[in-house]
Amino acid sequence: MSVRPRVAVLISGRGSNMQALLDAAKAPDYPAEIALVLSNKPEAAGLDIARGYGVMAQAIPSKPFGRDREAHERALDAMLRERDIAIVCLAGYMRILTPWLVNRWSGRMLNIHPSLLPAYKGLDTHARVLAAGEARHGCTVHLVTDGMDEGPIVAQTEVPVLAGDTEASLAARVLAQEHLLYPAALAKLARTVTP
Ligand code: GRF
Repeated sequence: MSVRPRVAVLISGRGSNMQALLDAAKAPDYPAEIALVLSNKPEAAGLDIARGYGVMAQAIPSKPFGRDREAHERALDAMLRERDIAIVCLAGYMRILTPWLVNRWSGRMLNIHPSLLPAYKGLDTHARVLAAGEARHGCTVHLVTDGMDEGPIVAQTEVPVLAGDTEASLAARVLAQEHLLYPAALAKLARTVTP
């Protein structure tokens, strides 16, 4: 079997997108291997889910590093290098990255965002979409660059906003598409990256 690029998934919470990536990567012909899961939150539920898949999963809390965000990222980066990681997927990783880490992983770091970027960057996208009376919403996977939720779009899926939608119903409709979109977008990038 050919060598597949090793992927790390960075999470902060429940890790449902991470799990979608782990499920997709079980297929023998999937072009990437999920080799590591890191969280900035020791209590992130996704860590135990990843361990259940037999994947090394570890918390690197930011607290001991205080305000020095780059020092925390250097600890993350050291682990990524140690584990021979070729691609990083942010999946609900709730920290803004410094230009140092972003530049180090330029072209090899993906993020998933619950909106049709470039619309609705930032938090609370579902509530803002509903408040604005939009007819369409969705999710985007993009390469990470310096600006938050910016960077070249790799893949995007649109969903309708339906009459009577609540934040929860809309979020669930988008999340179901995220779980299909992220594995497809990672596969697309993995095919272009040398392990
Ligand atoms: C997802 O909606 C993702 O788009 C956003 O954060 C959420 C993470 O959910 N960036 P999960 O931890 O993958 O379940």
